[in-house]
Amino acid sequence: MTLKLTLFAPTSEGVAQLTRQLPPAEESLGVSSAVGRPDELAAEIERSHPDLVVADLPALDDAGLRCMEVALNRSPATSVIVLSPERSPEYLLQLMRSGVREVVPTPLVNGELGAAYARQFDRLVARRNSARKGRVLAFLPAKGGSGSTFLSTNLAYALAARGRRVALIDLNLHFGDAALFLSEERPSVTIADLARDLSRVDPTFLESSMMAPLENLRVLAAPDTPEGAMDVTPAAVERIVSAARERFDFVLLDMSRLLDGAAVRALDQAEGVYLTLQLTLPFLHDARRLMSLLATLGYARDKLHVIVNRWEKGGELGSADVHKALGVAVDLEVPNSFSAVAHSINHGVPILKSAPRDPVSKALLELADRLAPQEAVRKRAWFGLSL
Ligand SMILES: Nc1ncnc2c1ncn2[C@@H]1O[C@H](COP(=O)(O)OP(=O)(O)O)[C@@H](O)[C@H]1O
Ligand SMILES: [Mg+2]
Repeated sequence: MTLKLTLFAPTSEGVAQLTRQLPPAEESLGVSSAVGRPDELAAEIERSHPDLVVADLPALDDAGLRCMEVALNRSPATSVIVLSPERSPEYLLQLMRSGVREVVPTPLVNGELGAAYARQFDRLVARRNSARKGRVLAFLPAKGGSGSTFLSTNLAYALAARGRRVALIDLNLHFGDAALFLSEERPSVTIADLARDLSRVDPTFLESSMMAPLENLRVLAAPDTPEGAMDVTPAAVERIVSAARERFDFVLLDMSRLLDGAAVRALDQAEGVYLTLQLTLPFLHDARRLMSLLATLGYARDKLHVIVNRWEKGGELGSADVHKALGVAVDLEVPNSFSAVAHSINHGVPILKSAPRDPVSKALLELADRLAPQEAVRKRAWFGLSL
């Protein structure tokens, strides 16, 4: 299938320049070009839904950003690379929020545009080919304290306990604490160490650098200093997650709700995003905001799963309210069980081990079962189907 590439610049000379900066078009690429003002680009995106756009744009004002956001919302599968003379962090963030995936500052530095282009192109090709690789599941808290870390670490354990090879990567680059949930040991290597030595990162090296709380389970801990967090670039996150996919059946990402460049590179590889929240209005409110940001960034709704954590019977709000507010049905209710959860976390022992009969353990097993049906269960299903 052909990928559609659109080149856009204010003048036809600008378009010609873009063409010269990019690698020669391959057979699988249909290239079109357009010349004009930024709002004309937005219209072009809405009209032709290209897979990839490379656009040389002046600094956009609020109306321009809005226009881009609306267009990309209507064409969520379109990836946009913008060449921009304006590179203040605020502006870059605004562009990201409008759904632009990469910004390359102008005047161009040798190779930067080519690298961004290659990245997006590879991403699109990979999406088309969807090779058989580890399944990446991202856990995003609607707000801090929603239980994302507890659920992702314990689900990782549950999947490993049923024989799947599982990696848990802590992408809370500041204040990440996932390793503590699974082990009392202190990690000797963190994601920052790998990021500093990125050329060495391949699937084997990655696995050997991770903590091993269980035979089939590996954990990559978050940096333990703010400087460490700075070293974890978007490129490092992308490389580490893709190396993990080569090696593991499941790659679970414990994320923060800050969707920065690094988070986006990780989410790009995720087949499912698990949004965790509790049943109070502030959680619902922030869940909605996060969902609209995800939509703007082009993540399809059917990737999104909602987990209600600390669920209690007879609460003022229920899962039906969540469904109504978010437009997505709740995938799983995890009961509230304060002492069993606190005990598990305080001792670094997964709850399936410390309290296997607790309702929280049962909910985790249910999710593990859906994601990785046990052999016996699968066989029975086969019998049911055959004939
Ligand atoms: N199902 C639950 N029942 C009771 N307490 C829970 C449950 N899930 C999480 N918690 C509590 O919530 C706290 C925050 O969880 P955590 O996973 O760190 O949230 P997040 O990663 O979203 O910030 C934990 O310390 C734990 O005590
Ligand atoms: Mg957390």
